[in-house]
Amino acid sequence: MVKEYTQAQLALRNGQDRPEIWCAYQGMIYDVSNSRLWRNGKHYEHWAGQDLTEELRDAPHTEKVFDKFQVVGKLI
Ligand code: HEM
Repeated sequence: MVKEYTQAQLALRNGQDRPEIWCAYQGMIYDVSNSRLWRNGKHYEHWAGQDLTEELRDAPHTEKVFDKFQVVGKLI
C-alpha cells in the first residue's frame, strides 16, 4: 500500500529542512532527490515540498518528466 502524507509532512521535504526532496503532482508524491535539476529543492522558480500540479502548466515539458522517478506516497 502506498504511504500517505499530509501537506505539512510534504512541506518538510523541500530540500532545506531534510535530506529528502519531494514534490507532488496530481495527488502522488515523487522523490526527486537524485535530480540535478532539483538541487536544494529548487527547480527554476519552483520549490519542492508542495503540490505543483497547477504549476506544470507553465513548464516547457509535460508530466512525462516524472516517469523515471519513484512514487513515495500519496498526498492526503
Ligand atoms: C517555469 C517552469 C519550469 C521550467 C522552465 C522547467 C524546466 C525544465 C527543464 C529544462 C527540464 C529538463 C529537460 C526536460 O526534461 O524537458 C525539466 C525537467 C523536470 N521538470 Fe521542469 N520546469 C518547470 C516546471 C516544472 C514543474 C512545475 C514541475 C513539477 C510539477 C517540474 C518537474 C520536472 C521534473 C520532475 C523534471 C525531471 C528532472 C530530471 O530528469 O532530473 N518542472 N524541467
